[in-house]
Order: sequence, then structure tokens, then C-alpha cells
Amino acid sequence: MLKKDQTYISELKHHVGKEVTVKGWLYNSRSSGKIHFLQVRDGTGIVQAVGVKNELPEPIFELAGKLTQESSIIVKGIVREDKRASSGFELTLTDVKLLQLVADYPISHQSTHGPAFLMDNRHLWLRSKKQHATLRVRAEIVKAIRDYFDSNGYVLMDAPILTPAACEGTTNLFEVGYFDEKAYLSQSGQLYGEVGAMAFGKVYVFGPTFRAEKSKTRKHLTEFWMVEPEIAYADLDDVMNVAEEFITFIVHRVLENRKEELKTLERNTAPLEKINAPFPRISYDEAVELIKKAGLPFEYGNDFGAPDEEAISKNFDKPVMVHRYPLAIKAFYMKQDPEHLDKALCVDVLAPEGIGEIIGGGQRADDLEYLEKKIAEHGLPRKAFEWYLDLRKYGTVPHGGFGLGVERAVSWICGSEHVRETIPFARMLNRLYP
Ligand code: 4AD
Ligand code: MG
Repeated sequence: MLKKDQTYISELKHHVGKEVTVKGWLYNSRSSGKIHFLQVRDGTGIVQAVGVKNELPEPIFELAGKLTQESSIIVKGIVREDKRASSGFELTLTDVKLLQLVADYPISHQSTHGPAFLMDNRHLWLRSKKQHATLRVRAEIVKAIRDYFDSNGYVLMDAPILTPAACEGTTNLFEVGYFDEKAYLSQSGQLYGEVGAMAFGKVYVFGPTFRAEKSKTRKHLTEFWMVEPEIAYADLDDVMNVAEEFITFIVHRVLENRKEELKTLERNTAPLEKINAPFPRISYDEAVELIKKAGLPFEYGNDFGAPDEEAISKNFDKPVMVHRYPLAIKAFYMKQDPEHLDKALCVDVLAPEGIGEIIGGGQRADDLEYLEKKIAEHGLPRKAFEWYLDLRKYGTVPHGGFGLGVERAVSWICGSEHVRETIPFARMLNRLYP
């Protein structure tokens, strides 16, 4: 147990009328000469502490007046209810202790800083209201993800990050030296999730994944978190059923538990409140029709770009599940649609409000010969996949799953402009600092 000589701002409601000690930092302040208004933050919230000249010992009042942004302080005060305050409470200041007086904090409330500057100061920017709110929503989403799978009979299965081969194509692999061999940072834990499904029936892999993406879009990171359920004896329809129930669960959890944060982010929650299973399901062919109807040039057979995804998803106010893409543009492990041999039994879930793909998944190729052929076709080294092929030799069954990109989901739910704000320390083409 944490020792309790402090009260967290989130707990002030239990201490109305009493004197409390808040340990934190000065977020902001103003003064009318006779009254100092200190915005104090402690990580759980921000509360205003009001210091009145006539009611405080002279040195304390003076100290309160010279505090600078992010100075570390311990304040004492009496808790008062205040409907106008965002926290619902205010402190009447009785004491201030200064731990460090900060000079020249780089991020000011007055000036508007550009994104490059803010990302260079990410280690400090995280203290700002909106960044703080975004990462609290992220934490809620991660918890919701775990709760959903843990309470629905899935076993958590950790996949390795150092892997011998590519899973999602060879063009964006990070290669690392591994003693006398080469290893690759995992692009997806799926193949190991398939091992898990054959051993445990239902599993989920959850961890960081890596792609050497040379693209500078608002959706791409080089290191991102993915959660990947994998289910034995599941077909494409089962995968879509799980995906829509899972997304609905997460969105509702955030709406329930993170109202304050969504308000801080000025997120209009009306579109999120409409998110309920079932989601619309359309085929790739039908999606292409929607792109054509929107007047965009599109060559049949290609993958969708960001404008294409937007043209598709704007027809729906829920996430739309696009299934059966051309086999030729998809990963080697996809199962061929027996009814349309040029198509894969796969699905992408496109979120509304211009977000685009948040989930990719589908049914897996379960036939040994077919998979051997695909591995060769994709120019992948068979030796590195022997273990994977064993799954098709020893008790192969239909199975499938999907991967949700955590940052894309957070970005959608928070209404963030860029995924870089949805992970504590973004890794991108031009960013490895801090
Ligand atoms: O569609 P992807 O590539 O699918 C897979 O990796 C499958 N193995 C998943 C599975 O079936 N188990 O990636 C899945 C999701 C995407 O829909 C997207 O949300 C996210 O991962 N994602 C990225 N997020 C941020 N930055 C990137 N560079 C991303 N690439 C994929
Ligand atoms: Mg994809």
C-alpha cells in the first residue's frame, strides 16, 4: 500500500470540508495581487488552490505568488465544492512547500508550438491536458482489450519480437544482427498466435510490432501495438462476428469510463454512441463500386489508399467490414475463397470519420500443399517456416483471427489528428527521440 500522507485530486470528493495535502506540480497560475490562483496537477487531475493574502502567513503568500510552471510543490488546503471547477472542487490554500522552482519550462500555455517542437519535447508534453487525456484513453482501451479477451475464454499468448522470418511481406522488415544470423523485428504475432490456437483453442497475442514504413502519413508508425486474437475452427464469418462485438465493447467502455478525458479532447461523442454491432459487411467488389461512385480513379485489383478508404467509409456511420480482397495483394497465409478463386477470405475493418483501416484479418490457409506453394511464390525462405508448416501437418483445422492496431483505435476514439499522439513515444521515419 502507498503511504497516505497525500490526497489525490481524483479523490477530493471524499474530503469536502477537510484539510488535505496535494503533492504535485504547478500547471498554471494567475494572480489579482491580493489573491493567487494556483492550478495544481498531480497526475490524477488539476485543482485550483486559492491563496488569499489576509488569510495566509506572509512568506507562504509570497511563495505562492512566485511559483513558475511545472515547479514541484506540496500544497495544503481545505476542500470546497465548486460547481464551476472542472474537477468539481477547489482548495482554500493553507500552506505551500516548494521542492524545485523551475526556470524556463519549454512548453508554455501562451505560445503555440509546432508539432516537431512538441514531439522533440514529448517527455514534457505528456504533462499537458490533451496529451494526458489521450494516454488515459489509451490505457482504458488496453484494459478493455484485455478484459474482453480474458472474460471470453481467450488465453493470453506472448509472441516473440525477435523472429526468423517475415510475416507481412518483406518490404518493411527491420533487420537486426542476431549473433551469427539475421533476425527480424516482428511485424505481427499472428503466426505464433496460430500455434496458440492449435494448442489452446482461443488465444490473443498482444504486444509491440514493427514495420520499417517509409511513409509519412498520419496513420503510420514504425513501432505500434497490435492485439491479435486467433481462433481454432473459426471461419471468416466468425472472425467478423468477433471483430464487431470486440470493437463495440471497447468503444462503450471508453464512453463509460473516460467521459472527462473525451471532454478535454473536445471529442464529439455522438458518432461513437452509434457504434453497435452488427456492422455493415461489403465485399471488395462492392467497395470498388462505392469508390467509382465517388468519382475517384481506381484500378480494379489494387489495394485501397487513404482517399479510397474514406470514399468507402463515408457511406456508413459505423465501422464497415470489407471482405474478400484480391488474393494477389494479400499476405501469403490468407485462405483462398473456394467460390472466387481470385479472392482471399479476409476482412479489413474501416473506421468511420475518415480513419480508415483499424483491423486486418481473416481465415488462414489450412492446406499444407497450398501454403508451401504460397511461401515459394512470395519468395519466403521455407526453412524459417518449417514450424509453421507443421501446424498444417499435425491436426490442421479451419481457423482465423485478426489484428487491431491500438494506436489507430485510440486515434479514432479520441479524434486525434495523428497517431503519433496516441502512443507515449512515437517511432516514425524521422523520429527516434526522445
Ligand atoms: O493489416 P495488418 O498488416 O494485419 C496483420 O498484421 C495481421 N497479421 C493481423 C492478424 O490477422 N492477426 O495490420 C493489422 C492492423 C492494421 O489494421 C492497423 O490497424 C495496424 O495493424 N497497423 C499499423 N498501425 C500503425 N502503424 C503502422 N505502420 C501499421 N501497420 C498496421
Ligand atoms: Mg492491413
